[in-house]
Amino acid sequence: MATPPELTLRPVRPADRKRVVELTQDVWEGRDYLPQVFERWVSDAGSTFQSAEIDGVVVGVQRLRPYAPGLMWYEGLRVASTHRRRGIARAMLDSAIGEAREQGFTEMRLGTASPAAVSLFEQAGFKRLVDIRWWRAPRVEGGEPARIPDPAEAERLWSAVSATPGLDLYHGVAADMTGAHDLDAAELSRLAGLGMLRAAPGGRAIAGLRPAWSDNISVAFVAGKGAALRDLLFALRYEADADGLDHVTIALPRRHPAAVDMNACGYDLVNAEDNAGVYGLKL
Ligand SMILES: CC(C)(COP(=O)(O)OP(=O)(O)OC[C@H]1O[C@@H](n2cnc3c(N)ncnc32)[C@H](O)[C@@H]1OP(=O)(O)O)[C@@H](O)C(=O)NCCC(=O)NCCS
Repeated sequence: MATPPELTLRPVRPADRKRVVELTQDVWEGRDYLPQVFERWVSDAGSTFQSAEIDGVVVGVQRLRPYAPGLMWYEGLRVASTHRRRGIARAMLDSAIGEAREQGFTEMRLGTASPAAVSLFEQAGFKRLVDIRWWRAPRVEGGEPARIPDPAEAERLWSAVSATPGLDLYHGVAADMTGAHDLDAAELSRLAGLGMLRAAPGGRAIAGLRPAWSDNISVAFVAGKGAALRDLLFALRYEADADGLDHVTIALPRRHPAAVDMNACGYDLVNAEDNAGVYGLKL
């Protein structure tokens, strides 16, 4: 579809706040996170927060955020409900892809749970990398939290866990809806440096954390199997308790063999069905 001729893209300005809040009001039954992040996004010089205007009125927004070498994260796509199904999102996305390509990025990634957006992204050539199911266990008292390896050790742990069953279902990326990094030895080292990697005794199972959205420990990937993995799954629950957090949430790809261990360690699926996924487009 051609770009709607009257559509103009420009940076979002602080003065757009009221309009942006207005156009997110009916998104996800009023639970859109965009009003909460607006100030941060509008003042972040390292990313591109854009609005689409028709006749001087903002009808859509989107954001492009470089987050790792060669990788661009795409987020915050919204089109006003009064202006949907006119090709506006497609035009905005096409422009964002062009911009990322021009800037020399090699891949654009995003996370979404919206079926309408999935069909838009798939039409643009995005492939689903991780098909996420969310698991949750309440905090539990009485045990030792898992160890945080140092960055050099973390890199070495990769060889112990990289061939464990189910890791391939992450398709080489962490199931992190805030920015899916490549899953490799360097990523373990990066996470360890941030204090966001956990290892079972002996390093035969690991968990990579992501920034949590609520009162919990959020895990973007696990690797390992058997007793080591189960130890780690319990250790995360102990850590939640020690830190005064409510629960642990783990993103595990659909049909991952560790589902059995999750059940055995007190984790349950959060939703009867999930549509969340990480998508990627090679540029
Ligand atoms: C998803 C959203 C951005 C689409 O905006 P839009 O401007 O209406 O989309 P477009 O008109 O450009 O549609 C492009 C394609 O997306 C898909 N699509 C858009 N809305 C759809 C819907 N309600 N149901 C199914 N597919 C849909 C279709 O494949 C469509 O192509 P088609 O019209 O040729 O069939 C908009 O509905 C929205 O803001 N939704 C709420 C927030 C949201 O879910 N954002 C995405 C978060 S990642």
